[in-house]
Amino acid sequence: MNKIETGKGQELYLEAKKVIPGGTQLLSKRPEMFLPDLWPAYYSKAKGCKIWDLDGREYTDVSYMGIGANVLGYANEEVDGAAKKAIENGGMSTLNAPEEVYLAQELLRLHPWAEGVRYAKAGGDAMALASRIARAYTRKDIILFCGYHGWHDWYLSANLSNKNALNDQHIAGLEPLGVPSGLAGTNLPFHYNNIEEFYALMEKHEGNIAAVVMEPIRNDYPADGFLEKIREETRRTGVVLVFDEITAGFRLCAGGSHKALGIEPDIAVFAKGMTNGYPLSAIVGRKEVMEASQGTFISSTFYTERVAFAATLKSIELYQKYRVWEKQNEYGEMVQEGWKEKAEKNGLKIEVGGIKPLGHFTILGKENGLVYKTFFVQEMLKRGYISSNAFYTSYAHSPEVIEGYLENVDAVFKMIVDINARGKDVEAYLEGPVCHSGFGRLN
Ligand SMILES: Cc1ncc(COP(=O)(O)O)c(C=O)c1O
Repeated sequence: MNKIETGKGQELYLEAKKVIPGGTQLLSKRPEMFLPDLWPAYYSKAKGCKIWDLDGREYTDVSYMGIGANVLGYANEEVDGAAKKAIENGGMSTLNAPEEVYLAQELLRLHPWAEGVRYAKAGGDAMALASRIARAYTRKDIILFCGYHGWHDWYLSANLSNKNALNDQHIAGLEPLGVPSGLAGTNLPFHYNNIEEFYALMEKHEGNIAAVVMEPIRNDYPADGFLEKIREETRRTGVVLVFDEITAGFRLCAGGSHKALGIEPDIAVFAKGMTNGYPLSAIVGRKEVMEASQGTFISSTFYTERVAFAATLKSIELYQKYRVWEKQNEYGEMVQEGWKEKAEKNGLKIEVGGIKPLGHFTILGKENGLVYKTFFVQEMLKRGYISSNAFYTSYAHSPEVIEGYLENVDAVFKMIVDINARGKDVEAYLEGPVCHSGFGRLN
């Protein structure tokens, strides 16, 4: 087997770890999450679904497409054209950017149940803002949450009263260091599709709950009227229902996934799904709830920056023009069915999950799942793919790209089965360490 030759990317990453604690700004972009010591790590150029590393080697991205931020594909000319025009006319001034208003109007047109919009830059910021608004509106402290919603104090505080609270909501190993201990008990987890657990928490903390914060959909489809029941209970008790649409939004339809699921929240939060890579997030909500943002201080210079507004407006326009959700779902189905078919053909056991545009799989066998994942990523890299055990589909993918990808998946699945069938361990064929699954110190 030919071995991976590392290049300038790994060299730079070693330098990065000397000056950037943790190496990168986003855990999901840490090379250790893919292929420790061997990952190309940095890109010189990205276009469509292609990425070029610092040595000019070309890859096809069949993993996360900008960690879910590039629904239309990389360097989309029309979106970037709108951004360039905004730059040419001044990305910042003492007066406000008109696109801020146009985008609010468009988001409200797409979500007729809502009447107010505020903005932030990152998804996590917007979730912190939504939590603040919900607490300000209800004058209550407790939040019940399900899933991942960013790095901020309100969220991480879940691990203060139970250090494992976030293990199965996000990832293991999240110490709430630096989060004031006084926040203990203010953010309590429940699990998706477990309505009894939800009801029990609602009852136990009745009268003290500000909000229920959750993704309407991510890995599983709602079962037995789960969302309807949550909507009914939050409405009955005056608790603000916040849907985090940061990743699920603009995947199933134009706007929040809640539209496709037929449930209207009180606040919906959007970010990377709508911007095609530009930094912007939006908190969209019912009038009376959003009015509470006038009573609590939320204000930031860069929340007014123009380029991301202009790019996002264009991104949402194109998303609708090309009915991008149809492609995301069509390609997602191809990918998920392809994984299953190739696994069955080779006699490999896998589990497939996630909604079609955000699919993922786990290889089951006698070795640790992370060993198989690392081997898969390693062998796919040699074949020119930036891969993981997930595939976020985009408009820049195509049936041809997916067919080519699946042919290579077939070959790598076969290698795994052959190695184990010979009584050998796949781990012995790893050219570097096993990939990481969660958060931790790097050095
Ligand atoms: C559901 C959800 N909420 C919040 C976030 C945090 O968004 P950001 O990384 O932009 O801060 C993410 C990011 O992956 C997400 O998927």
